[in-house]
Amino acid sequence: MTRATASGATTRADDRRPPLVVTAGHPDFRERARAEASRLGLPFADGPCADGLFADRPSEDDAPVADLALLLDERGWALVDPRPRAPGAVRVDLFEGDLGERLRAGTRGEVRLARALGLRRHPTPLVLDATAGLGRESVLAAAMGCHVIACERSPAVALLLRDGLERAAALGGPDVRDLVARIDLRVADAREVLRDLSAAERPDVVLVDPMFPHRKKAAAQKKEMQLLQRLLGPEAPDEAPVLLAAALAAARRRVVVKRPAHAPAVPLEGRSPDLAVAGRAARYDVYLVAPGPVAPGPVAPGPAADGRAAGD
Ligand SMILES: C[S@@+](CC[C@H](N)C(=O)[O-])C[C@H]1O[C@@H](n2cnc3c(N)ncnc32)[C@H](O)[C@@H]1O
Repeated sequence: MTRATASGATTRADDRRPPLVVTAGHPDFRERARAEASRLGLPFADGPCADGLFADRPSEDDAPVADLALLLDERGWALVDPRPRAPGAVRVDLFEGDLGERLRAGTRGEVRLARALGLRRHPTPLVLDATAGLGRESVLAAAMGCHVIACERSPAVALLLRDGLERAAALGGPDVRDLVARIDLRVADAREVLRDLSAAERPDVVLVDPMFPHRKKAAAQKKEMQLLQRLLGPEAPDEAPVLLAAALAAARRRVVVKRPAHAPAVPLEGRSPDLAVAGRAARYDVYLVAPGPVAPGPVAPGPAADGRAAGD
């Protein structure tokens, strides 16, 4: 039998467990979960699993069936770490958690994102979120009235996002339905989407939140990012620069790159950001496509670099 020791070291058999399985939190969801597993080409982990993957397991020494699982239960789809006592499930929820709080607080709390997107002068731009992930920026931008093309290349992550959006539309009022209707989720590599856009489809703003390692975030976000990083693995070093160059070629007005607060700016085709909008944990670096009155120039990273263009 595959076993993990109390110290967390694993046996050889344990190393052969699949990285990701699909499972159901209740027999009622089994057939839907099985169908999704087959659509995604992932193994389906069957069995009585009312409390997740361990309800029928006698001891915490029993090894998990996989590194990670996509779990369907009465709250929708979640990404879970099936180890005993692992941190909770990661889901897209527009009513609870950090995102729910930010949406309830209203868009007044999103001054930094609004400024980065340049909403003062262009209040309802078409935004292409090239790295939608769990959709935080896409949802907040849509809540501020933007139309959003949300690109997510991982089918598993896109499943979580689509599920969160669909549940929100089903459970929420007209405002939430309108917000969700403004998001066009595409399960695709943004580099290809950007390359194939017709001139008429070019977005005003391209938003990029690359998966750089060592992001310093609040605890809840950290857990999400850790699970996402385990699911997706490291990005190849040349991926972000190619994506950023494609973003700069396609955007009509600006490219916004989200960076950890104290990380250096990404040189984008030799350019420094034209402005930076800094927060406690993250910073938005903005590269203007047609620079306005703000003189382009190097912007030092960090909280002092809260730049603002006349158009913001
Ligand atoms: C740091 S996460 C984004 C987090 C997101 N801003 C949020 O609010 O949840 C990066 C995500 O971008 C996706 N991604 C990275 N490169 C991509 C590409 N070229 N096209 C589409 N998605 C991409 C990854 O699969 C991952 O889900």
